[in-house]
Amino acid sequence: MSSTTKSEQASIFLDHLGDSWYEINKNDLGKRDPISDLLEREPINLGSVLEVGACNGWRLEKLRAKYGCKVVGIDPSVLAAQDAAKKGIEVKIGTADWLPWESDSFDTVIMGFCLYVVAPEDWFKVIAETDRVLKDGGHLIIWDYTTPRSFRRKLNREAHLPTFMYHIDWPEGWLFNPMYRKVSEHFLAGCSEMVTVMRKNKKAPMLEMATEQK
Ligand SMILES: C[S@@+](CC[C@H](N)C(=O)[O-])C[C@H]1O[C@@H](n2cnc3c(N)ncnc32)[C@H](O)[C@@H]1O
Repeated sequence: MSSTTKSEQASIFLDHLGDSWYEINKNDLGKRDPISDLLEREPINLGSVLEVGACNGWRLEKLRAKYGCKVVGIDPSVLAAQDAAKKGIEVKIGTADWLPWESDSFDTVIMGFCLYVVAPEDWFKVIAETDRVLKDGGHLIIWDYTTPRSFRRKLNREAHLPTFMYHIDWPEGWLFNPMYRKVSEHFLAGCSEMVTVMRKNKKAPMLEMATEQK
């Protein structure tokens, strides 16, 4: 667990874009919650939960009330973190490329529609950090855009900023690794979004080949 140099896009979100996104959207948060919907249909043992891009912790508050799980979040918006604290939810200020928790801290890590605003130079850091903090046997839940072809679009909030949203097949970043297995997925027709639940198993069977003889 060591701090890293921030990408430009992560720095811009920490500097002000996280707060301005929150100010504009805070009254609409929680109107849709396909993660909770999926958990209701296909329950998993949530245990201790980290939400990355947790905003003001509205989902964490809901999960805690319903399942009695331990919850914590991280988000670049200072204002969102302050509002989370008023509800008794800890949301640390930060970005997905560096998660300020010990290794093997969580049974569940939720990426709640935040990967699309993570810059490419942070993608491998995000995968490594979520893997580091997720316990063996734990679940990773991703809600984000899904697409057969990767593309990016300019984030139009402040057009002068070099910020983009990225549409890629996010779960593939973890699923190339035989330790990660898809447990379930739900495609949200009409908006090209997907909720994917994966399980981490460090002892996933791997074919043992005989050592090559010289
Ligand atoms: C579309 S909102 C989703 C908020 C909440 N998870 C939900 O489902 O309503 C995206 C959130 O990601 C946060 N965010 C932006 N860049 C981030 C980054 N690099 N790492 C983590 N979160 C980020 C934003 O501040 C914002 O709160």
